[in-house]
Formats: sequence, structure tokens, C-alpha cells
Amino acid sequence: MDPTSVGSLANFINTQFHKLDILVNNAGVSGMIVDAEDFTSLNLGYLAEDFTGSNLKNIEIVGAKTDMVKQVVKHTYETDEICLRTNYYGTKQVTQALIPLLLQSHSPRIVNLSSSFGKLKFLSNERAKEEFLEDAREGLLEKKGWPVSLSAYVVSKAALNAYTRILANKLPKISINAVSPGFVKTDMSFNGGEFTVEEGARGPVILALAPDGGPSGLSFYQMELSTF
Ligand SMILES: NC(=O)c1ccc[n+]([C@@H]2O[C@H](COP(=O)([O-])OP(=O)(O)OC[C@H]3O[C@@H](n4cnc5c(N)ncnc54)[C@H](OP(=O)(O)O)[C@@H]3O)[C@@H](O)[C@H]2O)c1
Repeated sequence: MDPTSVGSLANFINTQFHKLDILVNNAGVSGMIVDAEDFTSLNLGYLAEDFTGSNLKNIEIVGAKTDMVKQVVKHTYETDEICLRTNYYGTKQVTQALIPLLLQSHSPRIVNLSSSFGKLKFLSNERAKEEFLEDAREGLLEKKGWPVSLSAYVVSKAALNAYTRILANKLPKISINAVSPGFVKTDMSFNGGEFTVEEGARGPVILALAPDGGPSGLSFYQMELSTF
């Protein structure tokens, strides 16, 4: 994220409105280099359903498809870095710049668009994000036991989930939650997702408009409470 652009957004909101009621951190990238046709032919609707569902029942099936995914999904150090910068560091930077304005609101809300790929089940190490980039630079991801497909995405969303919890704890006045929209038909999924954009947006919108005293520091899969 460009700090000048973040700063001018904060200045603009301050000048025009003096406060911010709702911040939805939606911007994100997959960190993958993918051939759209190969990706679609993998029948990832099935994979994503297994992988992003709230109870992750069929994780073994995902394991079995890992090699297929690895064949069509490539990544480099640069794409890994952009993914972490956008999904975690960028979100944090924008949020930090806007917190003073959110604190001026009577009912402030932050909604972080996360993913079930970021579950701690896949990654539990708090120092993971720095170590991940170091290992990616050295080409040691597989050897060091990082998730073999979508690794930057997994790390970035796990870090975003951790940030959601830490911030909610620090700022009880703001309702701050993470939500996975499900596997949605967007550019990111090459329009191959399971849900329409409207269906995917439902969870984030409900959290953004939740009444006072609602949830904070929690993780949702669409409209259901989920686990980190
Ligand atoms: N689609 C899914 O199945 C799915 C599943 C789970 C979670 N999510 C999450 O949902 C969110 C939205 O994803 P999507 O599916 O709508 O993806 P998308 O269609 O690829 O859209 C991503 C959006 O993020 C913006 N963006 C990317 N990098 C940015 C940057 N550095 N600064 C500002 N904006 C940036 C893009 O802007 P430009 O168009 O200008 O590049 C685009 O508007 C993401 O956080 C994603 O991780 C999606």
C-alpha cells in the first residue's frame, strides 16, 4: 500500500465527515500465478467447498488434491511478498490510519475479509509471517513444512485473523470481526466459485450493520460463527 494514498484517504474522510462508521477491508490478492483454464478444469468448486466449509470435514480429500493444485498454481518470491503486503500489511496500515476516525463514531465497525484458508489449523506460529518470507526467499517452503499450495495466502489470512483478535481486544469500543465469504464467483476465482457476489457479501454486510453490543474479535464463515 502506498502510505501517501492511505494518508490522503484518512485526510479526505476527516475533512468531509470527521468520523468513520464502517471500515470493510476487502482488498486482497491470491498470490498465485494461474492459468485460468487449467484452474477451472481442476473442478476447484469441489475442492474449495471442502476446504472453506466451516467444519473442514473433508480435509483428507483436499490433501489428495494437493498435487493437482501444485501443477496449475505457481508462485514466486515476488507474488508471495505482494500477497502478504496486500492481505496483511496493507490492511493493517489502512486500519491503523483510520482508527482515530472510527473512534469518533458512535457505532464503529471493522470487517476483515478473511478466508477459511487462514485457519490456525493450517498455521499456528505467531512469527510465521516473517519466517515465511525468509523461507520463500531461500526456496525452502516445502522443506520447512509450510502449506504447499496457496502458502502466501494461508499465511496472510492467518495473520489477518490474528490481527483481528488482537485489535478487538485492544479496542473494545469498535466491533471488529473477520469473515470468509465462501467460494465466490469473482475475478479471484475466475468466476468459478460456488456463490454469487450477493451471497458472498451477505456475511460482511450483516457484520458491518450489526447492532451495538454485537460480536467482536470473532471469525465467521458467511453468516455462521466459525473458529480461528
Ligand atoms: N472469491 C472468493 O472465493 C474468496 C474466498 C475467500 C475470501 N475472499 C476474500 O474476499 C476479498 C475480495 O476478494 P474477491 O474475490 O472479490 O477478489 P477480486 O475479484 O480479485 O477483487 C479483489 C479486489 O481487491 C483490490 N485490490 C487488490 N490489491 C489491492 C491493493 N494493493 N490496493 C487496493 N486494492 C487492491 C482489487 O482492486 P483492482 O481491481 O483495482 O485490482 C479488487 O477490487 C479478498 O480479501 C479475498 O481474499 C475471496
